Amino acid sequence: MEIIILATPAEIGELAARKVARTIQQKPTAVVGLATGSSPLAIYAELADQVRHRALSVAGVRAFALDEYVGLPVEHPQSYASVIRREVTEPLGLDPAHVFVPDGCAKDLEAACQRYDAAIAAAGGVDIQILGIGANGHIGFNEPTSSLSSRTRLKTLALQTRADNARFFDRPDDVPTHCVTQGLGTIMDAREVVLVAQGTEKAPAIASAVEGPVSARCPGSVLQFHPHATLILDEAAAAQLTLRDYYHHTYANKPDWQRF
Ligand code: F6R
Repeated sequence: MEIIILATPAEIGELAARKVARTIQQKPTAVVGLATGSSPLAIYAELADQVRHRALSVAGVRAFALDEYVGLPVEHPQSYASVIRREVTEPLGLDPAHVFVPDGCAKDLEAACQRYDAAIAAAGGVDIQILGIGANGHIGFNEPTSSLSSRTRLKTLALQTRADNARFFDRPDDVPTHCVTQGLGTIMDAREVVLVAQGTEKAPAIASAVEGPVSARCPGSVLQFHPHATLILDEAAAAQLTLRDYYHHTYANKPDWQRF
């Protein structure tokens, strides 16, 4: 894992967006994996800015979201289908026919999940996956004790996740209890992964994911097995990393040819 610690959320968004933009420039039909939540918003804003200034074309891009709440109608403002449309599809001008979100209202959820994994595979697999991380270490909605090789499926949201996401809903009880999420195995199939995290509440999860044992207790730790994972953090999220000085030193001395 490459660990990059930056001063501000804006710098994190800018650097992560540069990585995504480079992938798209190298492969205009790139498949981009999208996360929802607060962490990646600066990435999407930066990419939208590049598109507006004609520095980036996303005409050929296809995108797959990580997860969706179960039972929330697509039109609900907090369904991830709505969030992705508002935060990503519209601002970047992506072709809506090329943007996919798991179906949390399917009659047969299991079949819908299998179709979702098949659609990702049929698109050629994810070239670059954007990730956030939950305070409990989840990526996607793979809550602690998720199988490290899981595929897209139904999950019960952890109580902490429901409490954390209550800020998006009128009342805490309105947060759905279940979701469909790409599995850890699905996420690990992405050719490149960029995880962004900001704030002290993410510090324990980041420490476990990066320096802890690989364990389903902290699902994000599975990324230690990924051949090309970059974590871009602010100082607060990096606060509990014991090798912080080493990560700073490594990034400061990164050879020019390895920079992006
Ligand atoms: C969202 C997702 C989650 C979030 C995580 C962090 O699609 O898959 O793993 O990335 O819950 O959420 P924020 O960024 O809101 O702190």
